[in-house]
Amino acid sequence: MKVIGQSVLLTGATGGIGRVLARRLTAAGAELTVTARDAEALRALAEPLGARWIAADLSDPAAPAALAEACAGARILVANAALPASGDLLDYTAAQVERALTVNLGSAVHLARLLAPGMIAAGGGHLAFVGSMSGKAATPRSSLYTASKFGLRGFAHALRLDLGESGVGVSLIQPGFVGEAGMFARTGAPLPRGARAVSPERVADAVVRAIERNRAEVNPAPVRLRLNCALAVQFPAFAARFRHADAGDGGRLIVEAQRALR
Ligand SMILES: NC(=O)c1ccc[n+]([C@@H]2O[C@H](COP(=O)([O-])OP(=O)(O)OC[C@H]3O[C@@H](n4cnc5c(N)ncnc54)[C@H](OP(=O)(O)O)[C@@H]3O)[C@@H](O)[C@H]2O)c1
Repeated sequence: MKVIGQSVLLTGATGGIGRVLARRLTAAGAELTVTARDAEALRALAEPLGARWIAADLSDPAAPAALAEACAGARILVANAALPASGDLLDYTAAQVERALTVNLGSAVHLARLLAPGMIAAGGGHLAFVGSMSGKAATPRSSLYTASKFGLRGFAHALRLDLGESGVGVSLIQPGFVGEAGMFARTGAPLPRGARAVSPERVADAVVRAIERNRAEVNPAPVRLRLNCALAVQFPAFAARFRHADAGDGGRLIVEAQRALR
């Protein structure tokens, strides 16, 4: 579906990828509503873009319904919000586990459930989910994040089958490491040996292209990472040998830098 003239709800809009996405969607002609928790950051982002903003905490089980009601006419959802949820599961409290799964997976599921009927009634729409290459291959010290992104991948593909005839498209966009801005770049950790990052602009372009061409899955990442992840999908135990060998101090640095966000 063409973005121009459509009412679009973007979650996680104040983040490294979200900010670029907000500008890219506006440039494509969207009538944009942006959301995240930080009201001041939202206002500063939205005003120059002429976008509407709604502050919401997606870890609150009531938030998706309130957001969907405020955006009842939305024809496109870009579910982009997420917490890094890095580190050992055994270091997490029950509340932190709940928050990670609710923000990264549950809120996207509920927003899709609540917004799709309006899209169908209006004759069509699109649900775009920002996942991660962590939705294809497991990495050390990321069991919760990986669970949420594997879950999002399965959800998006199955929902696409179910909504196939309804006029509502479903896309999954799975970036690799993103440089310059966002949850990985902010940690200051080096990339794993041999890895390269993609820019937030490349991810934003991939999201708009996925919506406009109704792509099932788009993976904005260097070819080598895409191949490694494809291998991990087929042969997870074999691929895990190399992932453990790769997991050096960078992994620990990421966990410490992201600990406060649990
Ligand atoms: N950066 C990467 O290397 C990378 C790689 C692959 C995939 N991704 C995916 O790309 C997406 C965007 O990532 P990013 O790097 O831009 O992350 P980011 O900079 O950390 O931004 C995360 C966004 O989510 C919002 N958010 C966090 N918790 C929330 C909550 N409880 N309720 C509502 N909003 C909440 C944040 O805003 P507030 O804090 O104001 O709420 C922020 O706008 C995520 O789905 C991520 O998994 C990122």
